[in-house]
Amino acid sequence: MKTEYLKLSEESIDEEAIARAGRILQEGGLVAFPTETVYGLGGDALNPASSRKIYAAKGRPSDNPLIVHICRMKDLPPLVEEIPDAALKLAKVFWPGPLTMIFKKSDLVPLETTGGLSTVAVRFPSNRIAAALIDKAGGFVAAPSANRSGRPSTTNADHCREDLDGRVDMIIDGGPVQIGLESTIIDMTEETPMILRPGKISRKMLEEVLGTVEVDRTILSSDDAAAPRAPGMKYRHYAPRGYLTIVDGEREAVAAYINRECEGLRAKGMKTGVLCTDETFSSYHADSVKSTGSRQDEDAAGRALFRLLREFDTEDVQVMFSESFEGASDGQAIMNRLMKAAGHRMVRV
Ligand code: TXA
Ligand code: MG
Repeated sequence: MKTEYLKLSEESIDEEAIARAGRILQEGGLVAFPTETVYGLGGDALNPASSRKIYAAKGRPSDNPLIVHICRMKDLPPLVEEIPDAALKLAKVFWPGPLTMIFKKSDLVPLETTGGLSTVAVRFPSNRIAAALIDKAGGFVAAPSANRSGRPSTTNADHCREDLDGRVDMIIDGGPVQIGLESTIIDMTEETPMILRPGKISRKMLEEVLGTVEVDRTILSSDDAAAPRAPGMKYRHYAPRGYLTIVDGEREAVAAYINRECEGLRAKGMKTGVLCTDETFSSYHADSVKSTGSRQDEDAAGRALFRLLREFDTEDVQVMFSESFEGASDGQAIMNRLMKAAGHRMVRV
């Protein structure tokens, strides 16, 4: 399949071009597109054949459900059996935006889209290109992150090309995304809503609206016995090709440990990498040292994380170490992705 590339700007969306992209989706094709979190690999959410194509293009296990993206509040009721009051409250505050809510699904949503589950994840993105595409596609677009299964999510169109060229009908280039980490997922079917995946919308923000919110305890643990509630969270994920370890501790001790390890590995001819912050950048000696920005700037770290992991791959870095982002206020979202990328290898020094 030859992939068509379309460059669009959120400020002035080319109506004719976006209508063409929408038609591709309506006809059962696949289009990768920008959202404010990460790029999505879109197909018609109500067409079982489209969902099967998404799984094939990503190389994703078909028991891993897709998120249905909408662009109007009035399109939520047909997808779900009921809308709890708490969900309406959250929608009022956080939609459109980086929050995905899980509901009991209606018969309209094919089981192919929900990975066989009786629930459906729904998201109303704020990115204008995403909204326009969903509208032109008929209102319901299933979209996992636009990466090959197991690789870091894509945060720009070049990453989509790396992973999906020849596997999708079109890739829309809307520039780099604003957030860089996938949406927060909250399960609204529980008595007390439960966060299944941390993201930009933090537990604190959700609790300000709802009071108590629970957190799936597998979010940061490596406990294989406990199955995560979001099926996708159980897979090795976001992983660079090299071997990544997170190092936690006092700043000087972390740098000393990482430098010592890198020295030993380089002596054996291995290519080494370090993921750090501006404050510590100059203390590291490795083949490739990358900073997520200032340690204070957690937004920048979220935006950069997947791009930097992919850069290590491009540079054929074999062994990487990352500073820990534990304790940062937004750190849970970053640490959740980093721990998965590292296969939960963490060293405390
Ligand atoms: O920010 C995002 O959410 C991006 C953009 C493209 O919107 N999408 C995204 O989709 O991250 P994906 O497929 O890469 O991750 C969706 C996660 C998976 O872990 C999946 O298992 C979980 O959501 N999920 C989807 N439907 C679910 C359901 N009904 N119950 C529990 N978990 C669900
Ligand atoms: Mg994904």
